Amino acid sequence: MSPAEAAAPSPSPPLLAVEGVTKRFAGVTALSDVSLEVRPGEILGLLGENGAGKSTLLKILSGVMPPSSGRIIFDGVEFNPHNPQDAKRLGIVTIYQELSLIPTLTVAENIFIGRAPLGPLGLVSWRKMEEDSRTIIARVGLNIDPATPVSALSVAEQQLVEIARALSLKSRLIIMDEPTSALTETEVQKLMSIMGRLRKDGVAIMFVTHRLEEASAICDRMTVLRDGRLA
Ligand SMILES: Nc1ncnc2c1ncn2[C@@H]1O[C@H](COP(=O)(O)OP(=O)(O)O)[C@@H](O)[C@H]1O
Ligand SMILES: [Mg+2]
Repeated sequence: MSPAEAAAPSPSPPLLAVEGVTKRFAGVTALSDVSLEVRPGEILGLLGENGAGKSTLLKILSGVMPPSSGRIIFDGVEFNPHNPQDAKRLGIVTIYQELSLIPTLTVAENIFIGRAPLGPLGLVSWRKMEEDSRTIIARVGLNIDPATPVSALSVAEQQLVEIARALSLKSRLIIMDEPTSALTETEVQKLMSIMGRLRKDGVAIMFVTHRLEEASAICDRMTVLRDGRLA
C-alpha cells in the first residue's frame, strides 16, 4: 500500500474508480471529465435528465465501448474491457433499460444461457436448470414456471427475470440502468429489499434513475450528471 493510500480516511478502498472519463461521439461530448467511486457494499445513485450521459457511462463500465480518455480502476487494477464478457469475468454485471432476454427461449434457458449445469455424462441437465431457475426467480418474488417461454411474460416479469439472472451471477458490481421503469410499486419495493440484501453481502451497486424519491430511499450516496458533467 502506498503512503497516499494508507493516509486515506475511508475504511474500505473503492471497488470501482472512474478517473476523468471523457467520451466524444461525432459532434457530441456525451461525458466530460467524469470521476466517481463506488465501494463494496455501497449503493451509488446516478441521476440526470435524458441525454445527461448516464447510459454512455454504463456502457463504458460494462465493456460495450471504450472511453475517449480517462481511466477506470476496478479492484485496484486498471480496467480496459474489450467487450462485455471481459467485464462479466470480473463480476461486473449490467441490467439494461431495454430488455435483453431472448423471447423464444424459456425462462430457465435465459437464466442459464452460456452456463448450463451439466449432468454426469456432460450433458445439459434440464431438470437441474429448471430447479435452480425456480429458486433464482423466487428471490425476486416471481412465481412462474421456468419452462415458460419469455415471450409469454409481461414486460415487468421479463425485467424481474433479468434482474434474477444478474443476481445469480457472481456479481461484485451490479449496474442497473433505470431498472424500475417497467415495474409496479410492489415490484419496486421487492427490488429495493433485494438491493439492501446485496449491500449486506458486500456487493457494490450503481443505480441509475431519474426518480429522485426512489434514489434517496435506497442509495447511500448520489451523483448527478448534467450535460455529461458531474453537477
Ligand atoms: N452512439 C452514439 N452516437 C452519438 N451520440 C450518442 C451516442 N450515444 C449517446 N449519444 C449522445 O450522448 C448524449 C448522452 O446520451 P446518454 O448517455 O444516452 O444519456 P442518458 O442515458 O443520460 O439519457 C446524448 O446527447 C446522446 O444523444
Ligand atoms: Mg439512458
